[in-house]
Amino acid sequence: MNPRILLVTVSLGLSLLIGLVVSRRNVPVAAENAKPGGKIRIGLSLDTLKEERWQRDRDRFVEEATRLGAEVLTQSANSDDAAQMRDVESLISSRVDVLVIVPHNGEAMAKGVRAGKAAGIPVISYDRLIRDSDVDLYISFDNIRVGELQAQYLVDQLRGRKARLVRIYGSKTDNNAVLFKAGQDRVLQPLIDRGDLEVVFEDWALDWKPENAKKIVNAAITAKGRNLDAILASNDGTAGGAIQALTEEGLAGKILVTGQDAELAAVQRIHRGTQAMTIYKPVSRLAARAASTAVAMARRQVIIANGAVNNGFKDVPSILEEVVVVNRTNILETVVRDGFHRAEDLK
Ligand code: BGC
Repeated sequence: MNPRILLVTVSLGLSLLIGLVVSRRNVPVAAENAKPGGKIRIGLSLDTLKEERWQRDRDRFVEEATRLGAEVLTQSANSDDAAQMRDVESLISSRVDVLVIVPHNGEAMAKGVRAGKAAGIPVISYDRLIRDSDVDLYISFDNIRVGELQAQYLVDQLRGRKARLVRIYGSKTDNNAVLFKAGQDRVLQPLIDRGDLEVVFEDWALDWKPENAKKIVNAAITAKGRNLDAILASNDGTAGGAIQALTEEGLAGKILVTGQDAELAAVQRIHRGTQAMTIYKPVSRLAARAASTAVAMARRQVIIANGAVNNGFKDVPSILEEVVVVNRTNILETVVRDGFHRAEDLK
């Protein structure tokens, strides 16, 4: 029996059952063999553990899966596609019941999905969508919304000013980076078209690395001067690199910088005033949900999805969590109240 996924969406306050049991011809052998009461093994393949958030994702995922009686085999690929493919193959050889993958490269990892499915193992795409493949479930945040909120924050702050903006996108191989940009574009394009906003420089930060974001800001200043109003950095890592470049120019705190992830270093920068905002994504909640969903999938229970996202091959049943804007005024009511950071660590 394939994973059974129910799609339930909420519209105008009414829960509407619009999906039904997903049925396919090929039966996933491992899930079929997994006895509903037996020990479940989950293969977790991560792109990287360098950023703070992924360590949290991993820790919470393992904690919750263990609590539910499952065993987790974890691999991290250090931003290397070939290494991640080897990781996935080794998890398949270990006969895991479910694969949970955060792809470094959303397109390249379609091969990993094919390998998993050929071995009868259901695949969950975690946080980042794996494209053009028969992924069973996507668990993430509303990533378009993340981009919209980042851009809207700047638009609200810059109101009335004819602003000069630098844009730092994430890694081109990460589908999320494309979604963040799409959300940002949706908000910014009307202002750009009206001539109220000028994007003076833009580039993609390879592998989301802070040092690459720093180089982008250095290049922007060299090419276009120091007269900038804002830097739309797509996450906290790239915001950190951008702020380092601004610090060297004596401009930190004078130019609005956005972010995402509510990393401790970023929330400290917001507290100090060198970063304007970040997006809090409750990753502990997401990871726990992914773990319990993976276990349920292995036990052949019905999974409830609340949306569907097209990956080029199909509409992938999806579970998408909400996100929250964090700025200097609401740190305590957001990340601290949620137990994500402790107030005493913020200074
Ligand atoms: C995630 C972000 C993260 C970035 C870099 C994205 O796919 O959604 O939370 O900052 O990757 O790791």
